[in-house]
Amino acid sequence: MLLGLAVPIMAIFVLVWWHNLDDALRALSMQGGRPLDERSSKRTTQAVWATVIITSALVLVPKPLIHHTSDTAATHPPPVPRYTADSLWYGPDTTTIAGLETTRASLVRYGRELIANTAAYLGPQGSIDHRTNGMNCQNCHLDAGTRPWGNNYGAVWSTYPKFRERSGTMESIVKRVNDCIERSLNGKALDSASHEMLAIVAYMEWLGTGIGKGVKPKGTGIIDLAFLDRPADPVRGERIFKAKCMSCHEADGQGRKNADGLTYLYPPLWGEHSYNVGAGLYRVSRFAGYVKNNMPQGTTYAAPQLTDEEAWDVAAYVDSQQRPDRDLSKDWPRIAAKPVDHPFGPYTDTFSEPQHKFGPFGPIAAAKKKNDAKAQASKK
Ligand code: HEC
Ligand code: HEC
Repeated sequence: MLLGLAVPIMAIFVLVWWHNLDDALRALSMQGGRPLDERSSKRTTQAVWATVIITSALVLVPKPLIHHTSDTAATHPPPVPRYTADSLWYGPDTTTIAGLETTRASLVRYGRELIANTAAYLGPQGSIDHRTNGMNCQNCHLDAGTRPWGNNYGAVWSTYPKFRERSGTMESIVKRVNDCIERSLNGKALDSASHEMLAIVAYMEWLGTGIGKGVKPKGTGIIDLAFLDRPADPVRGERIFKAKCMSCHEADGQGRKNADGLTYLYPPLWGEHSYNVGAGLYRVSRFAGYVKNNMPQGTTYAAPQLTDEEAWDVAAYVDSQQRPDRDLSKDWPRIAAKPVDHPFGPYTDTFSEPQHKFGPFGPIAAAKKKNDAKAQASKK
């Protein structure tokens, strides 16, 4: 950018200078009583032009063409990336697992494998145990939990243990993983000392490489879409589902199995094999934020295919379908802390359950803000 400006400015300078030079030469020759030597004036002009062209070329030609194949890459290993709140997180390069101590490396690899192919190990016909619904963690935590805005695990190691209002307790990574097993995978929690849990936690630790304590890198988790000023509409959502989702997830929302009959090619969106009513995706804001940046399959945050409205409406449709139940009576011990789109009462505000499920969420959020401020003030 700066160079782009500098070059024309320099060229103008040189032209002005050359013009003066020409005049000066002319004046000098006149003074000496000699006629201007046209040939030497022409040579001066040519020399000046040559300088301009060479300088511009040096400045404009991209650096790699000049310092071609620098050997710095060979002598210095790639640096461990240091993530801050401003850098988009992609997950470390899997080839670096080989650099870990051997038992550690195999634990991390097993953890990654469990995230990517959960059903093969823990699903209804899993090789280790039968404790989950047949989905893979990766169905919702894309690319084994490394995709920017693909509900990735970039902030797990750096932010846990942390206090979560849903349980009202300090939650460890083990507890958080079991939350997803019990809700998103509608399954039975893993023992904290099991090889599988240790592997998943080791994988999370490895993913956290280079991320400082407390830092939440950009692109981790699920995006918060702006609220609509109307309720999300399941009727419009059904039209979107038929046009943009049904080809893979099937008309009945049950997804499609692979030829092995054990694992999914396209995971279910509702029904008995899907996530239960206590799962994060059962909140329409989580569902809408997830699909906005990731669905239909192949979508990335850089080129979303759904408008915000479409994402909210299809969320309303899918989250209106039947799915496994769960006892949530122990959730949200502090009722005022429930998220605006938690679909089950009781609430501390006066908005209805349907409004908490579909919106409009703006008025609920405003009331919550006012309430939180009041609570804060009364503490002082
Ligand atoms: C049906 C979708 C789904 C499946 C399957 C699923 N999860 Fe999740 N997971 C979520 C959602 C939604 C969240 C909450 C994201 C948010 O609110 O930002 C979440 C959050 C998490 C978090 C906390 C992330 C953070 O930064 O706080 C962890 C850890 C996690 N899941 C682990 C797992 C593991 C391990 C599995 C497989 C055993 C799994 N999940 C399967 C949907 C899913
Ligand atoms: C081209 C096929 C395809 C289309 C079309 C598609 N999906 Fe998906 N969807 C997938 C696949 C495959 C996964 C699992 C991703 C993985 O494991 O990497 C998935 C995962 C999901 C998940 C998380 C897992 C689950 O089953 O709960 C949701 C939610 C979802 N899709 C919603 C949608 C919605 C809504 C649409 C339409 C706007 C849609 N998908 C369109 C293929 C598709």
